[in-house]
Amino acid sequence: MKTQSQMVVRPARNIRGSVELPGDKSISHRYGMLAGIAEGSSRIENYSTGADCASTLGCMRVMGVNWQRKSEAQNVIEVQGSGLSLTAPKTPLDCGNSGSTMRMLSGIVAGQSFTSEMIGDESLSRRPMERVIKPLAAMGAKIESQHGKPPLRVSGGALKSIDYTMPVASAQVKSCLLFAGLFAEGETRVEESVRTRDHGEVALRAFGAQLQRKSLGSGNEVRIRGGQRLHGIEARVPGDLSSAAFFLCAAALFPGSQLVLPNLLMNPTRARLLDILMQMGLTISVTQLEEIHGEMVGSLQIEGAQLKGTTIAGADSAALIDEIPVLAAIAPFSEHGLEVRDAKELRVKESDRITSMVANLRKMGAQVEEHEDGLKIPGGQTLRGAELDSFGDHRIAMAFAIAALRAQGETLIQGAESAAISYPAFFETLEELTAS
Ligand code: S3P
Repeated sequence: MKTQSQMVVRPARNIRGSVELPGDKSISHRYGMLAGIAEGSSRIENYSTGADCASTLGCMRVMGVNWQRKSEAQNVIEVQGSGLSLTAPKTPLDCGNSGSTMRMLSGIVAGQSFTSEMIGDESLSRRPMERVIKPLAAMGAKIESQHGKPPLRVSGGALKSIDYTMPVASAQVKSCLLFAGLFAEGETRVEESVRTRDHGEVALRAFGAQLQRKSLGSGNEVRIRGGQRLHGIEARVPGDLSSAAFFLCAAALFPGSQLVLPNLLMNPTRARLLDILMQMGLTISVTQLEEIHGEMVGSLQIEGAQLKGTTIAGADSAALIDEIPVLAAIAPFSEHGLEVRDAKELRVKESDRITSMVANLRKMGAQVEEHEDGLKIPGGQTLRGAELDSFGDHRIAMAFAIAALRAQGETLIQGAESAAISYPAFFETLEELTAS
């Protein structure tokens, strides 16, 4: 089933079933890029089905990396790595809607001895890139942009290492600089004052790179030496926890829900959502925990309950940045509501997510207070079905499909097809889980 540009979502009674999630988006991007610059071939199962991760593979192909899709059903790709030197692209590197592709890949193209142009769609062309331009320029790359925004023209070459403290908590920037560090002379050191997801570090190790990590108070430092060669791997990408978040939150709306999510990513830098939902009253148990290529994977069992409320602020806002839209969408139905602060980054995602959340909540009749860095949603509210907009943002489309499950009357979501950016089968799976 192809998601229509308009989707109708009807109220549900509970969430029941078992879903194996497509591969994690953050890990798929990194595996796609590192497999391309590794030596030898890689076989990656359960590669993300989302359009964003296809953008990454498309860019790698334009730079001469050969890869084939081996099986649609299991999303297996085989990549023949080119080694650290890629081929000069004849066309622009089209990153589509994917900020992860543009930011992380810029670290790799900065190390190449050619000039490339990185372009994106309308939404990506509005997103800030100076967070990667500045440190990459300090390493020796020449990057032209439109006042810090795409398109980027990157003239790469011999890079020198850098000692850099990131002013914005961003795992994309951290990965970009560690990838660039592979091409730099000497040792690159990246410091983050707030811990962000560590898939870049974990993936680099899986592909054979050595790096050193140390905790520094509430943050980390990571060091990588230049000139290290990577080798291909055989891997299976764990199920995407940020996609699972929609179903976890859907289950949280109905005390009678029972949901099983096998083979799900359990990386501690991503799993804060589980603590928050448990604090809010959900029962979650994890079984069959194992480690695959440095990433924790487990099976989750969830039972619905009456939801309490919570506050998300400080380091939690960075840790939950992708899950805040769906937490906001279920917040009006909780007992005490939700307050989100320190989450200004939400304003520069695929849409201004604070504005998008507030607009849709208000259309459903909810009370909500907007702040520059967050929002406050009182609990105990009744929402009505309404005509909503995805604002061209996959996580907004999916978050409000979940709110619609507890609204009175039908909800129409315009621009629902944007779910395909990270999760093409989302609406189909939601329908199966609510069928009972
Ligand atoms: C991501 C990091 C986060 C997140 C994005 C994916 C990653 O962005 O919002 O969806 O894979 O590193 P920032 O790096 O901008 O925080």
